Amino acid sequence: MEDQFEPKPEHHFTFGLWTIGNRGRDPFGHETRPALDPVTAVERLAELGAYGVNFHDDDLVPPGSSPAERDRIVSRFRRALDDTGLRVPMATTNLFSDPVFNDGAFTANDPDVRRYAMHKTLRAIDLGTELGANVYVMWGGREGVECDAAKDVAAALDRYAEAVNVCCAYIRDQGLDLRLALEPKPNEPRGDLFLPTVGHALAFIETLEWPELVGLNPEFAHETMSGLSFHHAVAQTLWAGKLFHIDLNAQRIGKYDQDFRFASEGQRDAFYTVRLLESSSWDGMRHFDAHAYRTEDPEGVWDFAAGCMRSYLILADKSRRFDEDPEIAEALAVAQTDRLGVAQVDWTDSAQVAALRHEEFDPAELSGRGHGHERLDQLVVELLLGVR
Ligand code: GCO
Ligand code: MN
Ligand code: MN
Repeated sequence: MEDQFEPKPEHHFTFGLWTIGNRGRDPFGHETRPALDPVTAVERLAELGAYGVNFHDDDLVPPGSSPAERDRIVSRFRRALDDTGLRVPMATTNLFSDPVFNDGAFTANDPDVRRYAMHKTLRAIDLGTELGANVYVMWGGREGVECDAAKDVAAALDRYAEAVNVCCAYIRDQGLDLRLALEPKPNEPRGDLFLPTVGHALAFIETLEWPELVGLNPEFAHETMSGLSFHHAVAQTLWAGKLFHIDLNAQRIGKYDQDFRFASEGQRDAFYTVRLLESSSWDGMRHFDAHAYRTEDPEGVWDFAAGCMRSYLILADKSRRFDEDPEIAEALAVAQTDRLGVAQVDWTDSAQVAALRHEEFDPAELSGRGHGHERLDQLVVELLLGVR
């Protein structure tokens, strides 16, 4: 019998080399798994039904490689892509591991470090686009501060905008088919990071020279770390036309950045997120920025990867069931969900605006109308718990 939750390339699932290649190191302990060859990563992901693989510049080409080594690594990787049909839809730069970025990359106080960060990013853009990427993620892992006296936040944002503008100018000058996706995160590794949430990042984009080239890469774990609803963040990003990429994983509020297997925690927010993506016909990549538990051996990593995709497909199926369930449809009607889409006043017509001032209302009658949210929510809980 066909497994209805079997991942296929058409589902557009992607993983980063750093996700399945994560070796289980944490701030207290060393690696628990050996290094994973990028070519093996490509082969195993293809076998599991993924669509693509993404990377940081340094994940693929180790820092310090000679030009000849770079070419050899890239052509070997390209061969694996050609052999398996796996794509590289997104690429990114590591601006956080090297100690040179200890005070930030684009927002380091030292101008030479900022120039180096921009230089490294332009080169990483070349590497990514050479392998087919059309989305470029910018996660400012070191763009932040612990010692507030040492950093002028407004100046740091000016420099951040400068760096993004430089990258956009490069993309335009080179005629590249590439868009940038900023990834917000509230903290970790810095005490406080700049552009901490989706809302901050959306406002920042409007100050840029070419805002149309820049969107977001929201991450489940990062919004959840701030105690925010991830699916609301994604909804507003979609509403703003800025969902260029997405990082799916799992996270509990109030913890370190857990990056767990998708939907292993927060199933409810995960469900509404999947529902949003599927019902909006968003055509971007379903990228899993997560990693296997530190307890896993190399085979456990593939259980982790398969689990991310399988849970997504199960939640997509739940979303279809939600749409087909007559009791849920009835509860939605009681909650008047369809009526929120109806605009009330044409504000370009001053007569309509003025007339509103003189309308009569009966707030007591309005407040007496029930919403049926308890029943609706229970139906969704039962759907998710598998009894509907
Ligand atoms: C993290 C981030 C990273 C970025 C990645 C892509 O918290 O470590 O989520 O995994 O997504 O560097 O730029
Ligand atoms: Mn993360
Ligand atoms: Mn991420």
